[in-house]
Amino acid sequence: MFKTKIGTDLEEAKYWLEQGELVGIPTETVYGLAANGLDPMAVAKIYAVKQRPQFNPLILHAASPDRIEKLVVGIPETCHKLMKRFSPGPLTYLLPKSSLVPEIITAGNVRVAVRIPDHPLTLQLLELLDFPIAAPSANPSGYVSPVSAAHVLDGLEGKIPYILDGGVCRVGLESTILGFENDIAVIHRLGTVTAEEISSGSLVKVNISLSHSAPSAPGQLKSHYATRTPLICGDITHLLGKFEGQKIGVLSFTQTYLRGVQKNIVLSKAGKLEEAAANLFMAMRQFDALGLDIIVTEAFPDEGIGMAINDRLARAAYRGESE
Ligand code: TXA
Ligand code: MG
Repeated sequence: MFKTKIGTDLEEAKYWLEQGELVGIPTETVYGLAANGLDPMAVAKIYAVKQRPQFNPLILHAASPDRIEKLVVGIPETCHKLMKRFSPGPLTYLLPKSSLVPEIITAGNVRVAVRIPDHPLTLQLLELLDFPIAAPSANPSGYVSPVSAAHVLDGLEGKIPYILDGGVCRVGLESTILGFENDIAVIHRLGTVTAEEISSGSLVKVNISLSHSAPSAPGQLKSHYATRTPLICGDITHLLGKFEGQKIGVLSFTQTYLRGVQKNIVLSKAGKLEEAAANLFMAMRQFDALGLDIIVTEAFPDEGIGMAINDRLARAAYRGESE
């Protein structure tokens, strides 16, 4: 047991990581649960603390393409181009791993996931360290990803010594995960960077390959990002009728709902998908704290980052299969 501290002291974060302990770190997407990515004993603690299945591999975070080069066996030209445009940023690359990367990071995969996060505190921390940081989202496995230091504390208090506080995450949704097959970029997890953004400008051909049963990115398991309160997605007005008399929370895109509703959170009054994405996990956690009977929500426009929002909602709503 630790007395978990929250602060902005990079030296303290560095100290604990060098001791082989875990630290909560901010990124632009969600908070990460960080360990020394080259120390299998430290990485094992991530799985234990999160209660994460051992077959679900971890992303390595580094400060620069130079540092990524040591972790992989060659970076394809297509990937180089994308790194120039999107890194630091919410794009994760699956590349053949080098022998430096412990097996526990990749869970037996021949590829390792690498990314350069775009958060000033964490970039400074990565510069101070002489190893990459392994970090999944800093939530107990299966629950909603944390977008503030308080969320991390909520799920992991006493289990880690330190949380580096970088404020509320700007993007609020996990990174897009991308692999390469010949010259084609293949999206394995939908995220903030959209297929259109990847292909436009860089002339890179993009496919989407999301598998649930034999996931190439096991975070794709159907039940994930789930609220404790049952969440159902459909036509909100219809669902309000169906659950009349119950304590209902409404998670809507632009419209306000008041009648028969305990609480309504509108994700973007202006109808901006980026804004909705940034508010999504915060809203899901707010609802969960209210002791509601049900959260009702709707499908978002299935374009751009709306696809990633719909993906997270579908997984949050799915019951009957767990990680
Ligand atoms: O935005 C993000 O990506 C955040 C921040 C903290 O960087 N991280 C994150 O990590 O979302 P996590 O562990 O919650 O999700 C990482 C996903 C998982 O679905 C995992 O299966 C997949 O990446 N993944 C990691 N390494 C992989 C590999 N070698 N091959 C295939 N999938 C991999
Ligand atoms: Mg996660």
